Amino acid sequence: MSPRPIIAVTRRLPDAGMNMLAAASDIEARVFQEDRPPTRSELLELLDGATAAVTFVTDPIDGDVLDANPALRVLANFAVGYDNIDVPAATKRDVIVTNTPGVLTETTADFTFALLISAARRVVEASEYVRAGKWKTWSPTLLLGQDLHGATIGIVGYGRIGREVGKRAAGFDMKVLVNNRSPLAIGDRATAVDLDILLAESDFVCLNVALTPETRGMIGKRELALMKPSAILINAARGPVVQTDALYEALSTGVIAGAALDVTDPEPLPADHPLIGLDNCLIAPHIASATVATRARMATMAVANALAVARGEHPLNPVNDVSS
Ligand code: DGY
Repeated sequence: MSPRPIIAVTRRLPDAGMNMLAAASDIEARVFQEDRPPTRSELLELLDGATAAVTFVTDPIDGDVLDANPALRVLANFAVGYDNIDVPAATKRDVIVTNTPGVLTETTADFTFALLISAARRVVEASEYVRAGKWKTWSPTLLLGQDLHGATIGIVGYGRIGREVGKRAAGFDMKVLVNNRSPLAIGDRATAVDLDILLAESDFVCLNVALTPETRGMIGKRELALMKPSAILINAARGPVVQTDALYEALSTGVIAGAALDVTDPEPLPADHPLIGLDNCLIAPHIASATVATRARMATMAVANALAVARGEHPLNPVNDVSS
């Protein structure tokens, strides 16, 4: 009997994914058991001889990793983004890369909006204020925030998630500006504008782009200076879309009023990073897709992609085109 193909999994998956792997008697699942990403040497050891791998945004996969594991046929990323993987290097080696599109769209848009509302209405500061025992009386000027209704939101990247953010914004009676590579579709309740105009006119600038060579560092000192001093920047895309030093400078000198970030550069931010000390910067630990139901769907989709290739079938969600 020929040995069963190995699916390497670089972190324990939500139960839905683990159960699928356990039920697949025709494959062997090799799961990294620590609650942290494997180091590079642990990753190489885990992938050794594997046909498929389920990977996470915390796993940098480059050509050297692939060269060390020539048996590998698919990298099934547990995320819609796949900037942790060198896709051209994978394609060159006939390794399929898959992602988890569609299943996290609304959940991520919900959280993007949660960041927006929390920053606009100072929800986290308010909670900290109460916890610190500072709530002595009602005050007409305590923790004043910004209205959403009537405000302008600028959505940078109007793909699946950006569109859902736009729908939520329209529900809050906001004016919606968007900046996108492709034209708006019929029925989109938004106005397409240049990035500079979007930055200058928006009360809330929401980043929903994928991290690519074009978007890396796209929000820097010049772009922040174009924003209103009262504006809030929301990033639920990828940390490196924003230049961290420029953001710190802009937040600490009043160039913009605030930021709400689900993603940072670096990630995680070291506990003593100056951004963490700013009252006008709300930071979440990359959890925009983190609901029980969505993480279960992502796990199911990633495992289905890995299983398909391990069984010689076509995966559902390839992002590259490989010959074999
Ligand atoms: C994604 O899907 O790209 C998220 O950032 C990880 O959940």
